[in-house]
Amino acid sequence: MTWVNVCKVDVLDNDKIVAFDYNDKKILVTKIQDKIYATDRICTHEYADLSTGFLNEDEKTITCPLHFSRFELETGISQNPPAKIPLQTYANKMEGNCVYVFID
Ligand code: FES
Repeated sequence: MTWVNVCKVDVLDNDKIVAFDYNDKKILVTKIQDKIYATDRICTHEYADLSTGFLNEDEKTITCPLHFSRFELETGISQNPPAKIPLQTYANKMEGNCVYVFID
């Protein structure tokens, strides 16, 4: 269990979604209205990389690019089928200009 330094905060201002790997974990990080969200990056339905999906900043969701399940970034819950299993979410923090995600 450790805090992992993912990126600079201003990278998220420009790119909106940062994908990173840590050991066997594939994680995405995004920032909406000064709040950071970190979830698993691979859809729980089939193998699709959510970092290439569609970010809805108003609803704070990410939509899978393959079959369009929409996941809440805060909870990881899928709002619509076919995905039924929630994404794992991760604690995170900003320190100075750095974004950290807690990997368990
Ligand atoms: S792979 Fe994501 S909804 Fe099917």
